[in-house]
Amino acid sequence: MSATTRRLPGRLTAPAPGWTIRADVVIVGSGIAGLTAALRLRESVDQVLVVTKDVLNAGSTQWAQGGIAAALGPEDTPAQHERDTLVAGAGACDLDAVRALVGEGPDAVHELIALGTRFDHDDDGALSLTREGGHHRDRIAHAGGDATGAEIQRALIAAVQAAPDIEVIEHALAVDLLLGDGPDGRDRVAGLTLHVMGEGQRDGVGAVHARAVVLAAGGLGQVFSQTTNPAVSTGDGMALALRAGATLRDLEFVQFHPTVMYLGPDSRGQQPLISEAVRGEGAYLVDGPPEEGGVRFMTGVHELADLAPRDVVAKAIMKRMLETGRPHMWLDARHLGAEFWERRFPTILATARSHGIDPVTELIPVAPASHYASGGIRTDLHGRTDLPGLYATGEVACSGVHGANRLASNSLLEGLVFSRRIAAVIPDEIGPWVAPAPDRRTAGLVDGEVRRDLQETMTSRVGVLRNAPGLSEADVLVEKLAGRTTDVVDQASWETTNLLTVSAALADAAALREETRGSHWREDFPARDDDRWAGHFDVTMTDGVTTVAFTPSPASDVAPEEGSA
Ligand code: SIN
Repeated sequence: MSATTRRLPGRLTAPAPGWTIRADVVIVGSGIAGLTAALRLRESVDQVLVVTKDVLNAGSTQWAQGGIAAALGPEDTPAQHERDTLVAGAGACDLDAVRALVGEGPDAVHELIALGTRFDHDDDGALSLTREGGHHRDRIAHAGGDATGAEIQRALIAAVQAAPDIEVIEHALAVDLLLGDGPDGRDRVAGLTLHVMGEGQRDGVGAVHARAVVLAAGGLGQVFSQTTNPAVSTGDGMALALRAGATLRDLEFVQFHPTVMYLGPDSRGQQPLISEAVRGEGAYLVDGPPEEGGVRFMTGVHELADLAPRDVVAKAIMKRMLETGRPHMWLDARHLGAEFWERRFPTILATARSHGIDPVTELIPVAPASHYASGGIRTDLHGRTDLPGLYATGEVACSGVHGANRLASNSLLEGLVFSRRIAAVIPDEIGPWVAPAPDRRTAGLVDGEVRRDLQETMTSRVGVLRNAPGLSEADVLVEKLAGRTTDVVDQASWETTNLLTVSAALADAAALREETRGSHWREDFPARDDDRWAGHFDVTMTDGVTTVAFTPSPASDVAPEEGSA
């Protein structure tokens, strides 16, 4: 176990709440995880409140292109889906959690269909299934070609809006959890504080008193300079849970998506994703235009070539970029043809064209960018965190299904399956109303101006390729940036404090994990090392001071991963 000397804010500086409301359960986040929890909980709980930082569809679900994975095909089985998930997870998955995911997955997808989600079908009327990296079967259901997340989000929002007993507050940033004394003498979640950009009685900072809080607040992609994540993904849910006493697990396992459209060296923030499904339909990577001698470089790296697990492809692209000195590689999908592109990938086609590249006639420049946090708030098989009354689901959580590298299109499924599981247990275990106790944590804020420097630091030293000197520089720089405090209380400083909090935890775990496993790639420790590092790094915080502990756990995969070391 190692305690850091760095002190971060124990809670965010914010005005005292100017208004108070009550809800039995408050859900933070409005993607597939949050809205599924809301729709399920309304069947058994009186007052369900959803709060979301922007509008209902501003989170990551809306952006999901490829689809949702489940053993839905006639020759597929949950056992095969389990195997692919475990292999991608590189020995760091929780087998019981994976079994819950793949076993309940088909039923959960059918529930989405019953709710009104319009997935694509083939000419025979069967659900159209495609393949992505790491899958040995066609098992990715998609909608609108490459607009799966948008269609799921549409159907869920329609269902929530048709449910008069679910209250929604938009433009509501969750600031911190409220804690009270539980009946057993332990801290128990008593609700949260919110900042609402609203009008009338619910403007500014307020308090929601609740008997349970479900965090479905998404990931931390904005920690890095280039990401596929939307602007709202600033690690808020993970940071406020950590400050309140929950544990963050596996934060070092950040997945970098291999094929993100390269828009030039100065491009920052959310970048256009070129779905793995494009490779699933036959596109391949090249290290230069074939007309000028460029060659395919995934053949021979892995048995699945361009459809190898995501970490394998991202590493191969980075290696080739380093070898050739080029800032990106290329995806060749010209042979798919105009008609196929227009029908199957209309969103990607339009986006690429809007950036001046026509994939029907041109190669698409691509490079890895941050995409998904495989770790997050540690939960059990029913989304319970270490803090009584606090549950977590979706990307904000670490349920154990992803291990060191999430299998493609398992993320929407995780939100769906584990939100159903949370909703199944909350009615039986929801606690009494607990009065919030005075908050004795030390308040503070990091200046919103440091966000860009933090992102540069994390990208250059804690990005795709990591090594000890870079990680120790990151430690020094993050500590320095943490010292840039401010009295300016606004969304920029709240978000930047959250980004810095999760960055510090991520960098600490990445420095301690002296091996290469899944999406964690150490130049100086290029092999996976089960003797030393089969297990998890868990980060906790006490009034702003974090502690990192290693919890050993037997490797969970069926066979050592090929090609990822
Ligand atoms: C993609 O479409 O390539 C992304 C899907 C995912 O992240 O699972």
